[in-house]
Amino acid sequence: MLSVLFLTAAMVFSTPQADGDPQLHEGNVKEVIAAMTVEEKCMLLTGGRAEMFKSGAYIKVKPPGAAGVINYIPRLGVPAIVLADGPAGVRIRPHRPGDPRTFYCTGFPIGSMISSTWNTELVYQAGVAMGEEARDYTIDVLLAPGINIHRNPLCGRNFEYYSEDPFLTGKIAAAMINGVESQGVGTSLKHYAVNNQETNRLANNSILSERALREIYLKGFEIAVKEAQPWTIMSSYNYINGEHASQSYRLLTTILRDEWGFEGVVMSDWGAGYDPVAQVSAGNDLIQPGKDWIYNALVKAAKEGTLKQEDLDKSVERVLNMALKTHRYKGYVPAEKTDIEAHAKVCKMVADEGVVLLKNENAALPVSNSQKIALFGVTSYDFIAGGTGSGNVHRPYVVDMKQGLSDAGFMLDQTVDKFYAGYMADEKQRCDRINGENGWHIDRERAIEVVPEDLIKKSAETADAAFITIGRVFGEGRDRNYHYSYLLTDDENRLIECVSKAFHAKGKKLTVILNIGGIVDVCTWRDKADAIILCWQPGMEGGHTLASVIDGSVNPSGHLPATISTSYKMEPTVDNFPQVYTDKPFNYSFYRQLDGSVRNLIRNIDYTLYQEDIYVGYRYFNTFNKKAVAYPFGYGLSYTDFSFDSMTCEQVEGGWKVRVKVTNKGKVAGKDVVQLYVKAPKGKLDQPERELKGFAKTPLLDPGQSADVEMFIPKESIASYDESVSGWVTAPGTYTFVAAKDAQDDSCKQKIRID
Ligand code: BGC
Repeated sequence: MLSVLFLTAAMVFSTPQADGDPQLHEGNVKEVIAAMTVEEKCMLLTGGRAEMFKSGAYIKVKPPGAAGVINYIPRLGVPAIVLADGPAGVRIRPHRPGDPRTFYCTGFPIGSMISSTWNTELVYQAGVAMGEEARDYTIDVLLAPGINIHRNPLCGRNFEYYSEDPFLTGKIAAAMINGVESQGVGTSLKHYAVNNQETNRLANNSILSERALREIYLKGFEIAVKEAQPWTIMSSYNYINGEHASQSYRLLTTILRDEWGFEGVVMSDWGAGYDPVAQVSAGNDLIQPGKDWIYNALVKAAKEGTLKQEDLDKSVERVLNMALKTHRYKGYVPAEKTDIEAHAKVCKMVADEGVVLLKNENAALPVSNSQKIALFGVTSYDFIAGGTGSGNVHRPYVVDMKQGLSDAGFMLDQTVDKFYAGYMADEKQRCDRINGENGWHIDRERAIEVVPEDLIKKSAETADAAFITIGRVFGEGRDRNYHYSYLLTDDENRLIECVSKAFHAKGKKLTVILNIGGIVDVCTWRDKADAIILCWQPGMEGGHTLASVIDGSVNPSGHLPATISTSYKMEPTVDNFPQVYTDKPFNYSFYRQLDGSVRNLIRNIDYTLYQEDIYVGYRYFNTFNKKAVAYPFGYGLSYTDFSFDSMTCEQVEGGWKVRVKVTNKGKVAGKDVVQLYVKAPKGKLDQPERELKGFAKTPLLDPGQSADVEMFIPKESIASYDESVSGWVTAPGTYTFVAAKDAQDDSCKQKIRID
């Protein structure tokens, strides 16, 4: 279709360079802006548009599968900027028509596993590897990390996000951003903000108090902005208290820029917002993915003066400043191949530290590789490396349990193996037919669980130990279903029951591996397993990580970034989350109002009340006497034991220096995490029982070895947001600093008096 706009677009790009046209360089940004036409400015702020793609303008620039581009202006030497997802690695298509090369990317562990490491240095390294890969594949900005709060376990995108706690979230995000950006590649910290459900995500209105907004939902962003200053931030789809996030001046300018000092570009999520003029006026510089009507509206408003030139120019300036930082601008021409082998090693290192050992009765683990293992569960043979949607990565391979264990020298029960080989081949054909070519895979069909009872009994005679892998995969666009995603299915329960009975009857042990993107029910079946390993979706080296944990060459040191409650019904948000008990998930754009107004009809669809306020996750369970959770926030076992002692808190310039001595009391080397919680006195404001304000991971400690762990707690970090004064206030009184192993532990305490 050759629309008028297409002609305009083509003209903008084909305007030849004239004598005297300034060429963008450091120091002449303002001059370039002065030389730009209104059309060029609006083009720069309106993502890569379909017309430009059709005209072939981006064929050489944008790798297939990259999420978007920022338009170039050749006349002024302004390069295109290429954007690609996402949180678990670069998402581009691995094949290109007529090109024999492949462009696979490393599939890193999902966000929830990255944060389970509690190791910011390691996360930085993962960021470096992702940044290298983005650079090698000509990507200028990685659309990651995703840091929305795990408010409810059934949010379909929790896997991309880090934690229920904003402090852990912010620290991990800052490390990731600093790692990626050390490679000259930008990041886009997303989705800003309060985007905690997928159901009706384009139009849902999150209704919450200012205190919850500041302390829980913005805090992670605040920490990451202040400690890492990302190149970009992605504004979210939803409304916040009736105002669209991407059109909120208060959110994007007053808080983000004026209060926190953000200097970069704000870009909208793909298709977010209704009013482009309101977006740019609010400080949402760039609107993605770029549509004719958006460009039109901006040009019209700029010409009529309803979009102030000052606002337009400010946004253009930010984009140009970012362009100057890119490899593309600097003329670096990458080889379009990357060191997958080196990055796979980083991927495994992160996964190794992100595995959370939930249960290990009578030292069921580790298991020597001289033991014969019976491997059950379809997920053992169709292992899940990561989630779907924009959080997906096209990886060159996935090491499953079978391959991982075999590579580590374990012998597998051949009869069991043979049975699954046949069954999985049939199931693969069925699933491939259903899944087709759809790369997005919101509802990827997977093999149906099977309970081969006779085989189980037989293998209990010959094998030494049994392992069952339970899998869950989901992603962007849908929230999870309580029946089919949170609870284990009847077949899965029967499989656990049957294997447990048969192996226990022979005095042999069962380990259940949870290969999941988000929390599932554990209480109805955990008594039947001797050990439980939560390996999340550990990326493409998953099977190798699991084998290392199983044979003990890696001692688990991951800790939960979210509470696992005893049942979904115990969650503080259970009444304030979309109806997930039904079979019929809501389409994510289902109730979008075309005029952009909020439709206040259906609770949890049109609007969601954040009635739990600041009491999300452990803040709720700890404060309201609901401590009987399945596994508390911060929990994680090791094959060794650690003691914490000799805690000191020294008042220093700007805060406190907390020191704790950690000693490995057991028989094998390992790492542990010291979690520093602060219990504030009840002053004018109600306070959670405790809040995480610091953490540190030890180096690998040999048996008997100690390390002094040090954490700095800035003064301002213990303040609470007081709505009556619209500011952060530290109440006078006695604060307790607790060095703990998890959110319910009280290993060491120190009292601090603050007047
Ligand atoms: C997602 C973003 C993603 C973008 C580009 C949107 O649907 O919400 O997280 O970065 O698509 O793929």
